[in-house]
Order: sequence, then structure tokens, then C-alpha cells
Amino acid sequence: MASLARPALSAFARDVAEGLTARVKKLSPQYFYDDLGSALFDAITLLPEYGLTSADERILTRHSPHLAARVGPVTAVCELGSGSGRKTRPILEALDHGVVYQPVDVSAAALAACEKALADIAIVRPVCADWIDGLHRIGLHRAPGPLVVLFLGSSIGNLDRSGISHFLAQVRFTLRPGDFFLVGFDLVKDVERMLAAYDDPTGVTAAFNLNLLGRINRELDGEFELRAFSHEARWNQSERRIEMHLVSARAQHVYIGALECAFSFAAGETIWTESSHKFIESELPAMAADSGFTSIASWIDPEWPFAEVLWQAV
Ligand code: TRP
Repeated sequence: MASLARPALSAFARDVAEGLTARVKKLSPQYFYDDLGSALFDAITLLPEYGLTSADERILTRHSPHLAARVGPVTAVCELGSGSGRKTRPILEALDHGVVYQPVDVSAAALAACEKALADIAIVRPVCADWIDGLHRIGLHRAPGPLVVLFLGSSIGNLDRSGISHFLAQVRFTLRPGDFFLVGFDLVKDVERMLAAYDDPTGVTAAFNLNLLGRINRELDGEFELRAFSHEARWNQSERRIEMHLVSARAQHVYIGALECAFSFAAGETIWTESSHKFIESELPAMAADSGFTSIASWIDPEWPFAEVLWQAV
């Protein structure tokens, strides 16, 4: 009888159950960003050790006029993920005034904040959807003339290498020849510097990673003892990526109420929470070509090797 059935599990609960019963335990990074996690991530972007965000901002401030010159007159600018507006503003300022700006995000709150931040320089038309769906929708109603799609930061590095090819092919499929795609890639640098970016001495990154267990406690009635896990960042040389883990300090069982189940951890066993791939500048043009784009410009920050590349759909 329906009234006796257990309530359906949320997607979060299902993903946690699947991740914690896998042979190599993992949790999906999409769940980092509840209100506390988003605030901690904003703090990460201000850390001196986390050079990515400021490098990206420096490039966009310096090179937006060159970007505008390369793309010429455009119909609309679409952004995958609605940022705070800080990085996007110089781009919109360099393009024609009154351009249509379409941020795509699943968070209505993030879209509203972004709209408020940029309404003075663009006609903002938020699209509440996941990235590829959003681009499809934009494509159905577009005016003639080229689109510029922005994918700033280095979110692309959080996909694995086959995920990246698939994602780029999907983006290309929603575009027309002549459209532009501006995308950020964090480049390989000194291992020490890369590790410090993901394990800062202030402990903000550790808090950000551990908050995932805190969120399970809050939302799924979990009983994780946060002090019995620690944050670890590792450099994987053959895959060229930073891997983030939560390491169990001892052998323990953790009960999660919403799943009515306990999960065991051996001493030193880890939960893998995210990977952040790093790139070599010379591999980028081939990635463009393999997914139906041609690379037309690349700007690199001299202080923190980070590349913002401009591709055009062929
Ligand atoms: N997308 C960010 C990155 O890969 C996310 C991030 C920064 C992150 N620091 C972290 C994820 C620490 C997990 C743990 O750079």
C-alpha cells in the first residue's frame, strides 16, 4: 500500500548510497555547493594560494578589448554558470553596449544575483537550466549573427578527459559555424604550487571538502564525526590532475539515517571527492579541432599559468 511505502530517496541520498558502497568510495562534487559550501568556495577564490581566480580576472581585464576585436559584432553572450559578474563585466563592457547576456545556471538565486550585478551594462536574460539544455534553448530562439559562449574559471578541469571530449562535442552541437567559445584551462605548474592551491595553510579548502560530510549530516541525518576525517590533496602525474580526498583517521562505521544504513571505513581509507585536471598549452588546439572548433586566440597569465582560449565553431 502506498501509505506504507518509504518516501522516495532524493537524488542526493541515492548518489551518497551509491558512492559510499563503490569499491573506491567517492562523492560527487556537485554537492559541495550548499549555502555553506558556496560561501567557503567564495573564500577559496580569495586565498593567495589559489591563484586561478585572480589569474582569470587579470586575463579578462587585460584582454577583453582584444577579445572584442576578434569576435566583431555579436548577437548575444551566453555564459555557462552564472558567476558573480566580476569576471564577465569587462567582457560585456568591451562588447557593444546593450548586448543580450544569457547566463545559464540551475540555481535561480545565482541567476538573480548575476542579473542584478550586470543589468546596468547588458540586457540580461537568465536561463534556468543545466548547461547543455540551456544552450539548446538559446539556440531555438536566437537572432541571426554569432553567439559568444563563455565558460570561465576552470570548471572544465573537473571533468575527466573523456568527459571533456563529450562535453565539448555537446557544446559544439548546439552552436552554428562562426559562433565563439571562450574557455578557461588551468595549466600544469610546479607541483608545490598546485598542491598549496588545493590545501591552503588557513584550512579553508579542508573546511570546504569536509563540509560535504557536514551536509550529509544535516540533510540526510548522517552521523559523520568530521574530526575523524581529514582533507588531502594529491597530484596524479600520469593523469595530470589534483585529486581531493577525505581520509578516515581510523576504522569506523558511520550511520546515515535517511539511508537506514551504516558504512564502514578502514583506517586510512579515503572518499574521493573531486579531480581538477591541469593542461599543457600545446594540447589545447588539438582539443579544439577534435570537437569541431578552431583555436583563434589564447591568452596566458604570466604570474599564474592559466589559459583563456578563444575557439570558433567550424
Ligand atoms: N572547480 C574548483 C577547482 O577545481 C573547485 C575546488 C577548488 C575544489 N578547491 C577545491 C574542490 C578543493 C574540492 C576541494 O579548482
